[in-house]
Amino acid sequence: MNIEERLRRYQAQLQLDFPEETFSAFELRLRMYQNWIETTLSGYFPDGPVSHETLIRSMRYSLLAGGKRLRPVLVLEFCRVCGGDVEKALPVACGVEMLHTYSLIHDDLPCMDNDDLRRGRATNHKVFGEFTATLAGDALQAEAFASVLSADLPPERLTRCGRILASVAGHNGICGGQQLDMDGEGKPLTEQELMEIHASKTAALIRGACLMGVAAAGGTREQEAAAITYADALGLAFQIRDDILDVTGTAEELGKPIGSDVQQGKTTFMTLYGEAACEQRVLELTDRAKNVAKMFLNSEFLCDLADTMAVRKH
Ligand code: IPE
Ligand code: IPE
Ligand code: MG
Ligand code: MG
Ligand code: MG
Repeated sequence: MNIEERLRRYQAQLQLDFPEETFSAFELRLRMYQNWIETTLSGYFPDGPVSHETLIRSMRYSLLAGGKRLRPVLVLEFCRVCGGDVEKALPVACGVEMLHTYSLIHDDLPCMDNDDLRRGRATNHKVFGEFTATLAGDALQAEAFASVLSADLPPERLTRCGRILASVAGHNGICGGQQLDMDGEGKPLTEQELMEIHASKTAALIRGACLMGVAAAGGTREQEAAAITYADALGLAFQIRDDILDVTGTAEELGKPIGSDVQQGKTTFMTLYGEAACEQRVLELTDRAKNVAKMFLNSEFLCDLADTMAVRKH
C-alpha cells in the first residue's frame, strides 16, 4: 500500500476512535508511523513452545514497552522525503528500534547506569535477572541486523543499510560512546569530551537511522549530506534535552528515574553549563536541523519533529 493511502486509512480509523479530537497533519503522520511500527514489532519473536522461552519474553518485554520510536520514524520519513517506497523500509526501521532497545537494556544494567525504571516499567534485569537481560540485549542486537537484511530492497541498498548500522553500533558509535561515558564517571569532563560522548552514544544511531532511510530510497550524496547535518543537530539536541530532563523531569512523565546522572557522578551539559545555556543550545541545534531539512521537498514533518523533540517532556 502506498504511504499516503496508508495515512488516509489511518486518519479514517482515528476519526472513528476519537470523533471529538482533531489532529494536525504532523500528529497524524507521527501517530500513523508509531502505530505501524508498534504493530509490526509485536509480530516479531512470537510466543511459542521454545525451550528458551524466558529469553524471548525478556526481549519482548523491553521491545514492546512503548517508547517514542523516534529512530524508526526517522528511517521511514527519510525514505519518504527521498522518494523511496516506505513499505520496504519498514524492516529496516524495526531493526533500528531493536538495536536501540538493546542499548537501553544494557545501559540500565547494574554494571552501567544501574537503573530500576525504563519506559514506565521495571528495568529488564529487575524482572528477568542480569544474565537474561544481558542475553536479551545481545539477541536484540543480532536480530536487528536480521531484520534490516530481510528488507525487500536491492542488494546494494541492503548492504549499505547493514554497514551503516554496524558502524553506528560499534566502537565508533554506541559502544565507544558508552565506554567514554562510563570512563567519565566521577571525573570532570571538558565540553569537547562531553560532545564526543554525546555524538557517539546517542547521535550516532540517530544519524544511522536517517542515513538508512536515505539508503533504502537510493538517495543521492547531497541527500545523505543533508541527512547527516540534520541528524547530528537533532541527535545532540536530543541528548542535551535528556540531560536536562534528568534534573528537571519527573519519573512519572519520563518513565525512567530522574537524578540518575548525578547519582553516577556523570558530567552532563547541565553540570557544565546549567539549564539556561542548555535550553539555548537546544534551540540553536533545532534551528540548524530545520534549516537543513528544508532542502528536502515535503520537509514540514522533519521540521515539526525537530521542534517537538526540542520541547519534549519524556
Ligand atoms: C533514551 O532514548 C536514551 C537516549 C539516547 C537519550 P529515548 O528517549 O529515545 O528512549 P525511548 O525509546 O523513547 O524509550
Ligand atoms: C544512554 O544515555 C545512551 C544509550 C543507551 C546508548 P543515558 O544513560 O543518558 O540514557 P537514559 O537517560 O538512561 O535513557
Ligand atoms: Mg548511560
Ligand atoms: Mg542511562
Ligand atoms: Mg540520560
